[in-house]
Amino acid sequence: MDASGVASRLLDSVPVIAPSLLAADFSDLGGEIARLERAGAQVLHLDIMDGHFVPNLSFGLPVVEAIRRSTELPLDVHLMIAEPARYLKAFRDAGADLLTIHIEAVDDAGPLLEEIRSLGAGTGLSLNPPTPLETVEPHLDACDLVLTMSVMPGFGGQEFQVAVLEKMRRLRELAGERLLISVDGGVNPQTIQSCAQAGANYFVTGTALLGHADYGERMQQLRDLAQSGADVRVSDLCDPR
Ligand code: DX5
Ligand code: ZN
Repeated sequence: MDASGVASRLLDSVPVIAPSLLAADFSDLGGEIARLERAGAQVLHLDIMDGHFVPNLSFGLPVVEAIRRSTELPLDVHLMIAEPARYLKAFRDAGADLLTIHIEAVDDAGPLLEEIRSLGAGTGLSLNPPTPLETVEPHLDACDLVLTMSVMPGFGGQEFQVAVLEKMRRLRELAGERLLISVDGGVNPQTIQSCAQAGANYFVTGTALLGHADYGERMQQLRDLAQSGADVRVSDLCDPR
C-alpha cells in the first residue's frame, strides 16, 4: 500500500464519492473546495489534460499547487497526458496523493507505477472504454486503484457507457476486495447503483455534483445509492442464484 496511507484510508471508507473539479466554478475554486469539504468530501479528483493524449486542455501544476494550499483533502490526480513519466515527481511535489496514469499513454506501466510508489503516492492505472482489461491485468498487484473510464476521457458531462459495467465486474473478480475500483464519466444517480453492483467502490462525479444547490445532500444521495448497489452485490455473492 502507499506510504502515505491515503489509498488504504479511502479503501476503509468506501463507497467514496470523488468530486471532479473539472466541473467546478473556476472563478471561485477556493469557495467550491470549501463547500465540498463542508459537504463531507473525502477526496478531490483533479483532471489533468494536455491536449495531446486527450483533445482538451484543463489545468496543470500551478493549479494543483494552489489547490494543495487550500485543502487538507487527499488529491486524486488523473493524468490524461502523454508521456506521464516526465511529470510524476512534479505532480507529487505539487501535492498529489494518488497518481493515476493511462495504460494507453505508456509502453510499460510497470516502471511508472514503481516510481509513483517510490514517491510515496498511491498508484492508479486507468483504461478507456475500448481498452481491454487484459492490458492492465499484469499490473494489478502494483495498483492501489484502477480507474475504469465510462466515457472517452477529455470532457465532463458525457453519456455513461454501460458496456463498462462488465469490465468492472471482471476486474472485481480478478482483484478481490483490496482494490479501489474507480469509475469516471457519466456517474450520476441513474448510473451509480449499477456501478456499485458491478464492483466499483470509488465514484468520480463531475456534473452530477458540482453546480448543484446542496453538495451535502447530493453527495449523501450518491453515497446511499452506491451503498445500496454494493449491498446487492454482496447479497448476490452470498446467495448466487
Ligand atoms: C473526463 C474526466 C472525468 C470528468 C467527469 O475525462 O476524467 O473526471 O470530469 O465528469 P462527469 O462526471 O460530468 O462525466
Ligand atoms: Zn477524471
